[in-house]
Amino acid sequence: MRKPFIAGNWKMNTNNAEAVALVSGLVEQLGEIATVDVAVCVPFVYLRAVADTLSSSNIALGAQDVFYEDNGAFTGEISCRMLKDACCTYVIIGHSERRHIIGETDELINRKLHTAISGGLLPILCVGELLEQRQADETNEIVTGQIKKGLEGIDAEKILAVTVAYEPVWAIGTGLTATARQAQEVHAMIRSLLGEMYGRDTAEQIRIQYGGSAKPANTAELMANPDVDGLLVGGASLKVEDFSAMIRTVA
Ligand code: PGA
Repeated sequence: MRKPFIAGNWKMNTNNAEAVALVSGLVEQLGEIATVDVAVCVPFVYLRAVADTLSSSNIALGAQDVFYEDNGAFTGEISCRMLKDACCTYVIIGHSERRHIIGETDELINRKLHTAISGGLLPILCVGELLEQRQADETNEIVTGQIKKGLEGIDAEKILAVTVAYEPVWAIGTGLTATARQAQEVHAMIRSLLGEMYGRDTAEQIRIQYGGSAKPANTAELMANPDVDGLLVGGASLKVEDFSAMIRTVA
């Protein structure tokens, strides 16, 4: 059985005081939730403050990106070691905003994924199609390409460190959500692809999150799908009430 995994992606939001208030609120609301894995992926500069606030809780900490080198002359970048040092367990890799606004390629994402896994972080690999790609019926082809290239060279042992997040780009921050059926179709396709790549037993153990305007009102419907194992939550993760309501629904 796959344990549900709900992660908040704060993106470029909050200040130090808001970050601490947000996680303090979550700790208070959720207590020791044991049936769901919960993580918050916060801006780099607030990791330490959030880590201190989370220290006695089982909410895990994550970052939103990582660089593929350990140290050196890479101005502005943050390494896996630095993230471990800041108490991170998870790291989001290949989020659509990094692919489409910053210009990250599948090759770069693949390098980051290798580094994260060998450095002991648990990556959340994001994939998903643009609106025009869905309209042109290219969703499966796009997502298949992103998964194959993103996971190149990752063997069956290492893949178990990875969570895949299917996030249709047209549903991110737009208020549009994939219907439960649209989500399940792509999630099932991803699981079958992972089965071809790693064997069915392994594919059955890999968690696939849905992301894109997930909120309290659609959590139960999305999570009722057999291949939806969790949620990657943007906007709604910035509100203590909303994010904890989603987690309680899943628990
Ligand atoms: P959203 O973002 O929930 O605000 O749509 C999800 C994400 O980008 O991870």
